[in-house]
Amino acid sequence: MNKKTAVIYQSHYGATKRYAEWIAEELGAELTERKDARSSLLSKYGLVIYGGGLYAGGILGADLIAKNPCESLVLFTVGLTDPAVTDYSPILNRSFPQGLPRGAKVFHLRGGIDYGKLGLLHKGAMVMMKKMTIGKKTKAELPTEERVFADTYGGKVDFTDKASIYPLTEYVRGLGERTL
Ligand SMILES: Cc1cc2nc3c(=O)[nH]c(=O)nc-3n(C[C@H](O)[C@H](O)[C@H](O)COP(=O)(O)O)c2cc1C
Repeated sequence: MNKKTAVIYQSHYGATKRYAEWIAEELGAELTERKDARSSLLSKYGLVIYGGGLYAGGILGADLIAKNPCESLVLFTVGLTDPAVTDYSPILNRSFPQGLPRGAKVFHLRGGIDYGKLGLLHKGAMVMMKKMTIGKKTKAELPTEERVFADTYGGKVDFTDKASIYPLTEYVRGLGERTL
């Protein structure tokens, strides 16, 4: 009997949740929030698709998959920066100090931000981040991947896009075909 696929996610403001729901629906997979996921059950799934929001250069809840073996793993991150111009290796190294689990495939999706809805801690963190990364620099002096923080600071933006899940869902379908 084919083992099931689980989509597990951790999200603060809903962008990662939205992507996880789209992916689970598209693949007919089980959907679970990270706080409800039992680490001992991960190995029971044929494939775990884990999604975490990006916060201060880390992936929310990624310790779940860094510490517990899965038969097969697909990871997706959801952040504000544009995947086309972002180097994710520092983020991945930080969340997976021992290296990514063998055979894991990673996708990067784009979320959004609404400063009006940020909690106090996150608001404070963004003030710090602005001071540290933007400071007195002009936009032209900022590295391309940091410009989005300057452009959207204090405002509201939503880059979530259902079509951006398709490379991931196609990859997963391809995995199924290879094991037939
Ligand atoms: C305190 C804070 C730190 C953030 N750090 C990053 C970051 O390091 N890289 C990034 O691309 N986006 C960062 N973001 C933006 C979030 O990743 C983005 O809002 C994403 O959509 C959040 O996903 P969620 O809605 O599922 O929580 C940060 C947002 C906040 C509030």
